[in-house]
Amino acid sequence: MSDHKKLTNEVGAPVPDNENSITAGPRGPVAMQDVWLMEKMAHFNREVIPERRMHAKGWGAYGKLTVTHDISQYTKAKVLQPGVETELFIRFSTVAGERGAADCERDIRGTAVKFYTEEGNWDLVGNNTPTFFIRDVHNFSDLNRAVKRDPRTGRRSPQNNWDYWTLLPECFHQVTVVMSDRGIPASFRNMHFFGEHTYSFYNEKNERVWCKFHFKTQQGIKNLTNKEAAEINGMDREYHGKDLYEAIERGDYPKWTMYVQIMTEEQAKNHYENPFDITKIWRHAEYPLIEVGVLELNRNPENYFAEVEQAAFTPAHVVPGIGFSPDRFLQGRLFSYGDAQRYRLGVNHNQIPVNRAKVEVNEYHRDGAMRVDGNYGGAPAYTPNSYGVWTAQPEVMEPPLDLEGALYRYDPKDDPTDDCFRAGGDLWRVMTEEQKKALIANTAEDMASVTENIKYRHAAHCYLADPEYGRRFTEAAGLDMDKVVELSKLDHQGLVQATMPDVR
Ligand code: HEM
Repeated sequence: MSDHKKLTNEVGAPVPDNENSITAGPRGPVAMQDVWLMEKMAHFNREVIPERRMHAKGWGAYGKLTVTHDISQYTKAKVLQPGVETELFIRFSTVAGERGAADCERDIRGTAVKFYTEEGNWDLVGNNTPTFFIRDVHNFSDLNRAVKRDPRTGRRSPQNNWDYWTLLPECFHQVTVVMSDRGIPASFRNMHFFGEHTYSFYNEKNERVWCKFHFKTQQGIKNLTNKEAAEINGMDREYHGKDLYEAIERGDYPKWTMYVQIMTEEQAKNHYENPFDITKIWRHAEYPLIEVGVLELNRNPENYFAEVEQAAFTPAHVVPGIGFSPDRFLQGRLFSYGDAQRYRLGVNHNQIPVNRAKVEVNEYHRDGAMRVDGNYGGAPAYTPNSYGVWTAQPEVMEPPLDLEGALYRYDPKDDPTDDCFRAGGDLWRVMTEEQKKALIANTAEDMASVTENIKYRHAAHCYLADPEYGRRFTEAAGLDMDKVVELSKLDHQGLVQATMPDVR
């Protein structure tokens, strides 16, 4: 075995000199035969991999989920059985900023968890808000274009954000959350996080229920004001990463209590709005939180690139007992993540240690760039085969799901039960006076450079959510209240027409 303190090239041969190039004479040009130099430069040029298309800036940690309560009546997932402890890796992120962005920006925070269960990996790829801006996967790339950089100036653009957000009224609830005091958490440790979508559970009897996942911080909610965040970003752009790392290093392990909400198939059929619409929430009074266990973070990664940058999560990774739902937004995500990772990391990215399951993997995929295991040696490469090599497991088949309706491009706004403003209004009504003040001030500040027509569009939405919310934003933005009330009487298309730039 070689001495680990001695420098070698990429195939283990000794390197005699790592500072002086081979030159023709002491002042002469470099010789091509300095192959170590060529290797060093060539590797360096290839070290940057594509960043995640969104959620590019992030931090990770390992930990465990301990199940303290019995929810086996809902799910047979082994990871969720009472007493079971499962190792996990989490990555926290901001959404809009690039890999070098500052941590303390007003934005939602991504919370991607990989549970290394005894039935394979389960990834729960969520955020620190219970809802989302949009609900159709078609809108996703546009959302990111609107919140990321303007194609002409290369700068972020509040005008683009607000134009897009206000043209899709379903954004209203999430916009209210992002502009609220929770829009800039004081740390990852001080925020809740959520699966957001409606997922499904099925139990040993193959009975299905719908569920939502919640993780409540045991550290308490703490947030930053715009001013505090600006000061921190000016001094330390990696503030949240540092906070998480240092807490774990000093043994102050952050914890979250895990809960689920459960809705039966029958309740879903009779629910007053679409329970699979991610822009809505299930009210806790109607669907109470059911305690499941404790998620704790207790170990920092050894290497940022290997473990955090190369981590790959996808909502498509579920285990028996946990399934999807008809949520059209979730359905879109099931394709997008693996596709992004095959591009960002390569087709064999699930062999990277942080992504690799702790159980035996027999998935039949062969070859591909960067295959680093034995590629299944001489095992049969086709199925069915006569050797019984890797047979499907029908015992984990999900129960069938009845669906109805003709294939068509349905606009959820045409659903008579759809109300884009109820949830945002409910949120406003439970806010304290201090939180209301912060929401109005943050919104007015964020929209300061936005054109008036768009401010009117947002003011009408606020008014529709709650007249007081509308009035207070209208005053803060210096708009005319009578005009806002008139605009709020229009239907969506009417409001859009009335607030186009040429009529403002
Ligand atoms: C149709 C809607 C969506 C699409 C198409 C989509 C797509 C993507 C893609 C392509 C990535 C980068 C993946 C990678 O390179 O590894 C990503 C990252 C991420 N997304 Fe989404 N996303 C959607 C909605 C959501 C929603 C609703 C949530 C939260 C519930 C969410 C949470 C995240 C998180 C946390 C990450 C970062 C994962 C990590 O830390 O590696 N996304 N998304």
